[in-house]
Amino acid sequence: MSQKLMLEKIEKAQREIDTKREVVKHGKMRQCYHFMGETGWINDPNGLIYFRGKYHYFYQHNPFNGFWDSMYWGHAVSNDLIHWEYLPLALAPSEYYDNHLKGGCFSGSAIEHDGKLYLVYTGTCNNGNGFEQAQCIAYSEDGIHFEKYKENPVISAPKGVPTDMFRDPKVWKHEDTFYLVCGASMNGFAQARLYKSKDMLNWEFVNVLAESRGEWGFMWECPDFFQVGNKYVLMFSPMGGKERTSVYLVGDFDYNTGKFFYKTSGEIDWGFDYYAPQSFEAADGRRLLVGWANAWDWMPFWKDWGPTYREGWCGFFNVPREAVLNKNGTLSFIPVKELEVLRKNKLERKEILLEDGREEEICDGSIYELKLKVNLKNTTADKIILKLRVSDHKRTEIVFDLKKAEIRFDRNHADDWSKGIARGPLNLMNKDCLDIHIYSDKISVELFSNEYQNNFSCNIYNVEKGQKNYIVAEGGVAEIDTLEKWDLENVMQ
Ligand code: FRU
Repeated sequence: MSQKLMLEKIEKAQREIDTKREVVKHGKMRQCYHFMGETGWINDPNGLIYFRGKYHYFYQHNPFNGFWDSMYWGHAVSNDLIHWEYLPLALAPSEYYDNHLKGGCFSGSAIEHDGKLYLVYTGTCNNGNGFEQAQCIAYSEDGIHFEKYKENPVISAPKGVPTDMFRDPKVWKHEDTFYLVCGASMNGFAQARLYKSKDMLNWEFVNVLAESRGEWGFMWECPDFFQVGNKYVLMFSPMGGKERTSVYLVGDFDYNTGKFFYKTSGEIDWGFDYYAPQSFEAADGRRLLVGWANAWDWMPFWKDWGPTYREGWCGFFNVPREAVLNKNGTLSFIPVKELEVLRKNKLERKEILLEDGREEEICDGSIYELKLKVNLKNTTADKIILKLRVSDHKRTEIVFDLKKAEIRFDRNHADDWSKGIARGPLNLMNKDCLDIHIYSDKISVELFSNEYQNNFSCNIYNVEKGQKNYIVAEGGVAEIDTLEKWDLENVMQ
């Protein structure tokens, strides 16, 4: 009966997608190479996996409208992480535990088991007094059509954890045992809780992997735990913490005790629009991360769902990034090499001298990749400023403040909607070169700097024609050793 209801709901949603697809596709804010849903709303990446020779993205999805509502799981596959084919929706709310008053199938992850593709997700129902959340299983023989496990839910909120603060299971396998980490709150502090299972269905609590003492908020959404090199990484998106978006902790882990000792912490992204990243293993073993290019705090939600909502859609994913462990225990997040297939019309310039205050034109338009190396030995300027997406009354400014050792991403004049300045460190100690790498798309700018450790993702809703991009030095001169710029292919149409 309930499987029937899920199939009916998926069919209805597919019909809705069919009727809206063409209109949404022609929205003037649609991205060119960032992954989006076909219609409606998307948020967190879910169930990222390389399965039977293809990459799978699942995603939190309201296919009906460009705002958050009852959650479905959308689904798409790709051979190369760049060109995507949409598949039928994978999950729809249909049971008492994931289907009442705007609950739904909340975030989760995927794993292969017994030749099947298993999804583990948070069933959320609203009993009228708030959410009740528990972890649930669905599986598929063909990787396309899913069935929910009859004995769901498989993990309920333990004593002391409020039922609306227990979600987002991320699963992996070590030797012959499955593990999952899931976000929770206990006594007002955030936790990452570790469970284990031999069969994906019966789960046993192991340990609290890590816990906030207040500095990282009261709840961790979308925790993830993985190995890079000889270290382990716990990452999560804190609610109520000082950090805005996504934090990582690096340390050592012992499978025998389930204990994690971390020594290093950092921000995955300092921008306004990077949240709930999920990691997965690429076909060649790289550890890749994909994030949702938005965050709850920075949208005046429930009143205005932003400029793309008016085009019948909202939400996309940031470019996939590879997590690489540095010698000092920090992580770098490097855009994946697969993105290079998008490049065309290379422009290359060398040894550009920037005189104090003179705006040097880099390129026009908004869809490009840009790489700059600034020679710090020949630079006396206090600030190097990128003025991007400049049209008659709009501009986005990224300030590399060499004196204050700070990067500022200023959206106050970027478009008619976004506001605020995102700030992060600029660490140039003992360095001869400031490295800057930018992916700009129709409505977003992703900046990578400081050897990919200080990154900023911010959405820019300026689609005016005739946009220009400049670089300027202030308080002295600067020398750019190399400037490389490419146009990028539109693969999302
Ligand atoms: C994170 C999040 C998750 C939840 C999902 C609901 O963005 O709030 O914690 O599972 O989104 O759509």
